[in-house]
Formats: sequence, C-alpha cells, structure tokens
Amino acid sequence: MEKHLFALQVSHLLGEAFSREWIYEQIEIPKKESMGDLSFPCFSLAKTLRKNPASIAVDLASHIDHEIFSEVKATGGYVNAFLNQSFITSHTLKQVLTAGRRYGEHDIGKGKTVVLDLSSPNIAKPFSMGHLRSTVIGQAISHLAEKCGYKTVKINYIGDYGTQFGKLLAAYHKWGDPEKIQKDPIKELTKIYVQFHEASKQDPGLIEEGREWFKKLEENDETALELWRWFKDASLKEFDKIYELLNISFDLVRGEAYYNDKMEKTITEIMKKGILEESEGAQVVRLDEEGLPPCLIRKSNGTTTYATRDITSAIDRYDSFAFDESLYVVGHEQTLHFQQIKHVLQKMGYSWADHIHHVPFGMMLKEGKKMSTRQGKTILLEEVLQEAIDHAKQNIELKNPDLPDKQKVAKQVGVGAVIFHDLKHDRKNDVEFSLEQMLTFEGNTAPYLQYTYARATSILRRAQFDPDQATDQLEDSHAWTAIKLIRRFPEVIEDAYQNYDPSRVARYLLDLAKSFNQYYAATKIIGNSQEQAHLTFIYTLTTVLQEGLSLLGIETPDEM
Ligand code: ARG
Repeated sequence: MEKHLFALQVSHLLGEAFSREWIYEQIEIPKKESMGDLSFPCFSLAKTLRKNPASIAVDLASHIDHEIFSEVKATGGYVNAFLNQSFITSHTLKQVLTAGRRYGEHDIGKGKTVVLDLSSPNIAKPFSMGHLRSTVIGQAISHLAEKCGYKTVKINYIGDYGTQFGKLLAAYHKWGDPEKIQKDPIKELTKIYVQFHEASKQDPGLIEEGREWFKKLEENDETALELWRWFKDASLKEFDKIYELLNISFDLVRGEAYYNDKMEKTITEIMKKGILEESEGAQVVRLDEEGLPPCLIRKSNGTTTYATRDITSAIDRYDSFAFDESLYVVGHEQTLHFQQIKHVLQKMGYSWADHIHHVPFGMMLKEGKKMSTRQGKTILLEEVLQEAIDHAKQNIELKNPDLPDKQKVAKQVGVGAVIFHDLKHDRKNDVEFSLEQMLTFEGNTAPYLQYTYARATSILRRAQFDPDQATDQLEDSHAWTAIKLIRRFPEVIEDAYQNYDPSRVARYLLDLAKSFNQYYAATKIIGNSQEQAHLTFIYTLTTVLQEGLSLLGIETPDEM
C-alpha cells in the first residue's frame, strides 16, 4: 500500500512524462533498513528531465510529505523514504486483528476461474518426485489463487492411456501374477513392464503383441478393458495414500483415457480448419511459422497421441469451466509439448488459448543427477514421506516425549518438511533431494517455521492472551522489522500468484520467522510495560505465519 502511495506522490511531482505504473515498477526495497524502507532511483529520469539524478532526487524528496512516512531524503540519485513506525504499526496490527486468517486476501480474481492441471501421475508406475513437485507446487498455486479471489478447479489428469498399456497387457499375459499384483500393484506392474522391455530386445514379436493389445484396448475389448480398469483402480488406491499424507484433494480426477472416444471430433475439427497435413503417412499440424516442429496428431499406424489428448482435454476444460486461466503444472521437459498444444489451439481459432499457461519446474536431483526409474534409482515418494515422519517422531521422543498426539504432530512436521523443501526453491530450478536438510530445525526448513510458530503461540497461551483485549499501539524497535514484513504479506501473496511462484511466500515466511526470533531474543515480554501490545503483535505474527504455511499446504502444530 505504501509502495502505491509513494509511487502516487512521485507521479504527482513528475507530471505526465512518466506513468505511475512505470514509477511503481522502479521502486525498490533497499537491502539495508538504514537506507530506508522504499527507494526510488532517479537515474533513468536524467535524460528526459535534463538534470542530474542527484538533484532530481533532492527535488523530489523535499516535496514528498505524508503521514505514512517519517522521513523522505535524497541519497545520491535515490529518493529514500522511511515509514512512520507508530502509524504503520497501529494500522498493520489493526488490519490483521480485523481480518484474522483472511488478512492478505485480494479480489483481483473475483468472478474468475482458474483451472489447474496438477499431479497427473501415470498408472502402473511409481509416483515420482516430478509428480510430487507438480502436486505441491500446484496445490500452493491453487491456494494462492483462492486467496486472490479466484475460483479454482484442480484436475488430476492421470496418465492412463497410450501404447505403453498395450505392452503392459502383453506383459501381464506372459508373466502376470494376479496375487502379487493385488498385494503390491505398482511394484509388480513396473516389474513386468521392465521385464517386457528387456525381453523384447531379444524377441521383436513381443512388440507386435503389445501393439495388438493396445489395439484391443482401443476397440474396447472386454478382457483388455477389465485388466486396464483393475490396474488403474489399484494404482489410484496407492496414489490416494500419498494424497492423504499431503492433504490434497482434487475437484476432478479425469485421465487421458476419458478422451479416447472424443478425439475423432477434435481431429475432424482440425481438418475442417484446414490445418491438418499428411506427413509420411501421419497427420500433423505444421508450426513452421512459430519455429516449432510439427505437432503430431495421428501416427502413421492410426493411433492418436499425447498431444491429441491434451488438445481435446483443453477444449473440454474450456467448455466445462469457461476458465479465465488454465495452468499446467508440469516439469520443464514438456515445454515444447505445451507450446505446440497452445499454438494448435490458437490456429483452431480458440482465443482462450492465449490464457493457457505451462507452469514448468525443475527436476529433483539426487547427488546432482537425475533420478530415473529405469536404473532403479527412483526414490519412492511414499517411503520418503514415511521416513520424514519417522524422523520427526524420533525427534519428538528425544526432545518432548510427553507431547500429546505425537503421531499427528510427527506427520505434520515430516510432511511439512518435504513440502517446504520443494517449495522454497524457485520453481524453475532443480532441487537437490536431501532428507537430512529437510528435517533440521536450524536453517531454512518447515520444522524451523513450525517451531517458531509453536514457540510464539505458547507465549500467547501462557499469558492467556485474549484478542478482545488487543491493542494496536506498540513502540518497539525490535518488532519493527517483523511488523513491516507483516505489512507486506498481501503484496507477497499477489506477487507469488502473478508469477505462479510459491517460493516467494516460502522465503518471505523464513524472513518473518527470523525477524520474530531476533525480536524474541531481545525482548522480555511478560511483565513488560507494553505487555498487551507485545502480545497483540505476537498474535498477528502467528496469524500470518499460520496462514502463510497453510497456503503452502503445511500445517502448524501448537506444540512440538
Ligand atoms: N502424466 C504425464 C507425465 O507424467 C503428465 C501429464 C501432465 N498434464 C497434461 N495435461 N499433459 O508425464
């Protein structure tokens, strides 16, 4: 808010030559607090105003006057503004007290719908780290969208279709053991699938069998369908265990196979639009003008593709939800695929295709290397989560053995640690997987944030703080940094959503917790002459910390 106000003041002084949006974009938050809270650099004004930046800054600084600032001064070519502590403190505390957990909400998304494609694992295969990333990033973005006022529709687009299922069916008829599959479906199905791959190197006839089974599946052969359904249901049951741990639910679980009988319509439509071309027996949409390889719509053997299904499902999503934005939270290795889909839809004449966005993310690495299923190097997600929970449990036994509800807290801490480790990284970067790093209390982890939260709430509990007794008048230099951060929460939410980047919230929460811990180390609260005001401040801080973590999908135990 003060950033807007600052921009407004500067803009009044500069007149029409520079837009207020531009001015707003220029405003920085100085690295050092002693330099001010907001800073406007004057360097790029010099040419237009024919004056040197330093004297422009002096001129502007002397004319800005508002109760929200305690001081505005020129330093070099910068106009640096200092916020008025008592004004901002009382205003901020009041806002959080009034809004509670709703603090930070926006209405920029009011009346608008965002569709999110997230998680989307493949059946009969292990739930990979990539799918974990998609799930937790997607979930956080959906929470941010809701906080910004959007309605969200979360879709789990299960990978339940494609030629690999022909191979799996063939493999099942060779080596499938129903009992074993029943017991541990994903492991067993992966095993026979890999076996099929190995064997087909010696025996090319197998590939043909795979093809035939896929054909049967496409023709709705009852035997093929029945097995496919079984594999699918069994896989989904396994995935549900993970979703339950992560506390995530979907509005729609609709996989690729759903579009099986809807693709002919799409292909006909593409043809009618005159953009479908024959190429070596296959059908493609050329994207030469866009500088991309052609999008394969139908292979030469007549089967449809991953792209055909995505084009069909995109249309279905628009027809069903009339979305304002449609996001695909999928690893960056699929960037080309999503570019092609978007261009084909645009060529088909769908103007809403402009609002389709691929939200890519980096890979999860183990010792700097990609994890791969083939070499048995994948880390099984369920095991990771379980290990994190066990580790948290041991920690509790060690440090706080009398804690009530130990198992529940261990789950909240363990799962929170895994989620936060993922979300604190800029989503486009690769993430090094490290269980030890995730779980420490020191450093930038969820347990550190949860611990800070628990510590703060315990102060309130011990002091029997009652929000009805709250007061918004606090004069305290140690709390000031945290208050300014609390003040920025709404801006951080909006910024994180606009960039589809939950890591901005994650890093913000770390700053907030650090500022609180510094304050706490320097302040005696109980018996302080401003005790009620300190408690009020701590209460608002816990509110923001809790809400921020919950946006990331992380719970906050009161004690740990
Ligand atoms: N099942 C795919 C995979 O694991 C991801 C699907 C992403 N969503 C989509 N609409 N293509 O690679």
